[in-house]
Amino acid sequence: MCGIVGYLGEKNTKQILLDGLKELEYRGYDSAGIAVLQNGEFSNYKAIGKLINLEKKTKDFVTEGFAVGIGHTRWATHGKPTELNAHPHLGESSYIVHNGIIENYAQLKKELISDGVTFLSQTDTEVIVHQFEKNLKTQKNAFKAFEKTINELDGAYAILLTTKSEEDTIFFAKHGSPMLVGINSEYEKFFASSDTPLIEHATQVNYFEDGDYGFVNSKEISIFDKDAKKKKAIFTNLSQNKLSAQKDGFRFFMEKEIYEQSDVIADTLMGRLSDDEVIFDEFDKSLFDDGINEIKLCACGTSYHSALSASYLFERYSKIRTSVEIASEFRYREPIMCKDTLFIVISQSGETADTLETLKMAKKAGLKTLVICNVDNSSMVRLADATILTRAGIEKGVASTKAFATQVTIFWMLSLYIAKLRDSLKNEEIIRQISLLREVPASVKVTDEMHEKLKRLSKRYLHGHGFFFIGRDIFFPLALEGALKLKEISYLHAEGYPSGEMKHGPIALADPELFTIALLPEHLHYEKSKSNVEELSARDSTICAISSQEFDKADDFIRISKCKDYMLEFFEMMVVVQLLSLEISVRLGNDVDMPRNLAKSVTVE
Ligand code: F6R
Repeated sequence: MCGIVGYLGEKNTKQILLDGLKELEYRGYDSAGIAVLQNGEFSNYKAIGKLINLEKKTKDFVTEGFAVGIGHTRWATHGKPTELNAHPHLGESSYIVHNGIIENYAQLKKELISDGVTFLSQTDTEVIVHQFEKNLKTQKNAFKAFEKTINELDGAYAILLTTKSEEDTIFFAKHGSPMLVGINSEYEKFFASSDTPLIEHATQVNYFEDGDYGFVNSKEISIFDKDAKKKKAIFTNLSQNKLSAQKDGFRFFMEKEIYEQSDVIADTLMGRLSDDEVIFDEFDKSLFDDGINEIKLCACGTSYHSALSASYLFERYSKIRTSVEIASEFRYREPIMCKDTLFIVISQSGETADTLETLKMAKKAGLKTLVICNVDNSSMVRLADATILTRAGIEKGVASTKAFATQVTIFWMLSLYIAKLRDSLKNEEIIRQISLLREVPASVKVTDEMHEKLKRLSKRYLHGHGFFFIGRDIFFPLALEGALKLKEISYLHAEGYPSGEMKHGPIALADPELFTIALLPEHLHYEKSKSNVEELSARDSTICAISSQEFDKADDFIRISKCKDYMLEFFEMMVVVQLLSLEISVRLGNDVDMPRNLAKSVTVE
């Protein structure tokens, strides 16, 4: 995910910016840049790839005395990872860095182009700096022009802007993307999109709230709220512990990533939904026409589970034949590949050797290919005909959580996109589903009450001879995913099973030492799933039911909220199984983020 740093002061501005960007490296990025305004002149450097490339480019650049500087690491969303698309972006005499997505950028860009503005990049960000300079011509000062610009933006942003028209100032705005300002006793000012770059520089920080905007110079920090009312900064002491800052105060990266799901899903959706259709700018709709009669999905591990979820959505909503393959199996089983099949690979990393190989096979067989991936410029993204980026940000916990959440979100969107193309769902239903999609970020928010309950409950599930996670329909892949999460980080034996299949064998294992985690959605096959659980309960298996409906045959009951649709129940239950696994692992004293025998990116077969 993108990162922002900013500095205003008399120390070595270049080094402070580069060091700050280094602290944000762990979030993942594909290009970086800085712009420094000193003695009325801008210096700007950008480089694609790792920060070392930017360091090399700035080797002979020296900053001495007072300067203002802004820097950015970019994770491509609009436009490829190129130098032109890297931030900071230049207007005529101002530079900007931005995290987030400007939803109305296309409209603003059109107007600016008709005013004669030339754009250098494909980014949504560049419109902000041009819009600011357009407003500069009509407003009485740079602050008023900045304020007007912010009011004209829709979407999410954290923005820093420097301009020759007010040389000693940094303008900032925050809405939906994080940003803070730090101070110290030497009157320096530091900005960043998270704590870490500020450690060892700032002693106190103010976290901006959504809607905040304003400016800083060496004498003052002026903050305004969303109603344009001046507000006081609230400074708190900055902990100087870097690792804990990277984890934003959470105990583990996995925990942080579970909590982040609401924000990253909002990013996944951003700019891709209108009231009645799903929009994917990244490919042409012909990808799905031209004689495509089937979709084949191929992946490993958690990504395979999201692919399985997709198969339910594609057949139910898009009415297209869909099959799902485990990549390591598909490679060697001499599969029949027909040209009327769209081949979709799913991978968080884009580097998993088995999945990559299947993509090569599909290309060789002349199939059209699409990758759902979290890492732009990864091997799979470079190879596939088309890409949809999940925008989950870098995932550090080995056990995947937010990557899965964003993959399923993409598949839900894609199923509606195809449904529209194939006319397989009524327009009212597409409209309804789009409004449900907008509710996903809220439905995956972790509540203190739920987390506390799972912490308490976890102590009862530390032993036994095994776990069965069971569910029907799309809740079966979720059951598989719940079991995978648990076994990865607790080292306890766990299996995911279709609820209706238990009686065909596994029920023989049922006794009080067998733990069944039952997914019981109110809106999908509730009665049928319930009777499957009752069969297990009658054989004395210890049952933990997850549902919005009271279930008295369970030993433990985890209540999710009453949802409008089974897909919202899916996302709520996803958070429950992730957190339950996490808490069991914590109680067992395991290394949650780096479980034994596992690697984050499996580049060997
Ligand atoms: C499980 C997990 C793995 C990966 C699998 C594929 O938590 O992370 O099962 O899902 O190794 O990795 P990607 O998605 O990078 O291809």
